[in-house]
Amino acid sequence: MFDQATTLRRLMEEARTAQAQGASAQGFPGSSSVTSRKSTVAPRVITVSGGKGGVGKTLTTANLGLCFVREGMRTLLIDGDIGLANLDVLLNIRAESTLDDVLVGERELKDVIVTGPEGLKLIPASSGMPRVNELGKMQKLVLLDQIESIQDDFDVVLIDTPAGVSKNVQYWAASASEVILVATPEPTSLADAYATMKVLSQANNETSFKLVVNMAKNEDEALRVFERLSSVANEYLQVRVDYLGCVPLCESVRNSVRERTPYVQRYPFSAASRGIRSIAREILFHGEAPHPKGTMQFFWKRLVAGKNFEILS
Ligand SMILES: Nc1ncnc2c1ncn2[C@@H]1O[C@H](COP(=O)(O)OP(=O)(O)OP(=O)(O)O)[C@@H](O)[C@H]1O
Ligand SMILES: [Mg+2]
Repeated sequence: MFDQATTLRRLMEEARTAQAQGASAQGFPGSSSVTSRKSTVAPRVITVSGGKGGVGKTLTTANLGLCFVREGMRTLLIDGDIGLANLDVLLNIRAESTLDDVLVGERELKDVIVTGPEGLKLIPASSGMPRVNELGKMQKLVLLDQIESIQDDFDVVLIDTPAGVSKNVQYWAASASEVILVATPEPTSLADAYATMKVLSQANNETSFKLVVNMAKNEDEALRVFERLSSVANEYLQVRVDYLGCVPLCESVRNSVRERTPYVQRYPFSAASRGIRSIAREILFHGEAPHPKGTMQFFWKRLVAGKNFEILS
């Protein structure tokens, strides 16, 4: 049990102090860590989004997470689809406690982490709990503080977000250093991916996105999706889109959902598994270093002290 009001007061106080010292939005020189943790390299925090429902965000998150574990990365998945959770269902994990317990102050975040296949860690959300569908300002701040308290334990944090571009999706995207968009070749998915980039570039100042094309017939079709999205994004939003790769439409993916086992585990030689493995390596070994937006610590201070405060409301 922890006291949310005390945490919030401390967060506000630290943000005010940082602001008074004229700290820049990108960093707060000399600021102490919220949790007084030892100084280590911050994990890569990656949000998986896409706008349209059912395009494969959750499956991409789960399977990418497992690929990262196999590459030796200590990986944490966060089910940001609060109110309609399903990462735990896909991974066949039984969650005793969830993010909901953290948000009402009954558990600390580290106590709700569960272990999935091959040591993959998960913070589950709770399904069908309407009271946490829309997080309050204080809950959002407390959650960030809690996430920061565990970030030394991980190399990569992957956040699965719900469909749409709600304030909660903006919140998760802003807390991350990278945003992966999942899109399919359907025109509606392209339109929603574009709309997501538009909102995140305007509200969060995102300047680059990474694209996974899911359910494409083949690589050529996926590349056409990338070219269309990246050219409109460049021209109308002045944002950059990097192509990570493609997960083809594959029967084994559907089967893996029914079997509640990640497809990289159940069908390791399928086209989908080859695709997601290559995407994981692209992210870890070939992509440009993540935009130094900063750690969660810097993020919440920006939110409290700066112009992105409205994301919290
Ligand atoms: N590459 C693929 N090949 C075949 N089917 C797929 C593929 N990717 C996803 N699917 C199908 O799409 C369904 C939805 O996937 P998933 O739950 O990951 O989407 P989502 O974007 O997270 O949805 P939501 O917006 O509801 O959270 C899966 O249950 C699966 O049947
Ligand atoms: Mg989902």
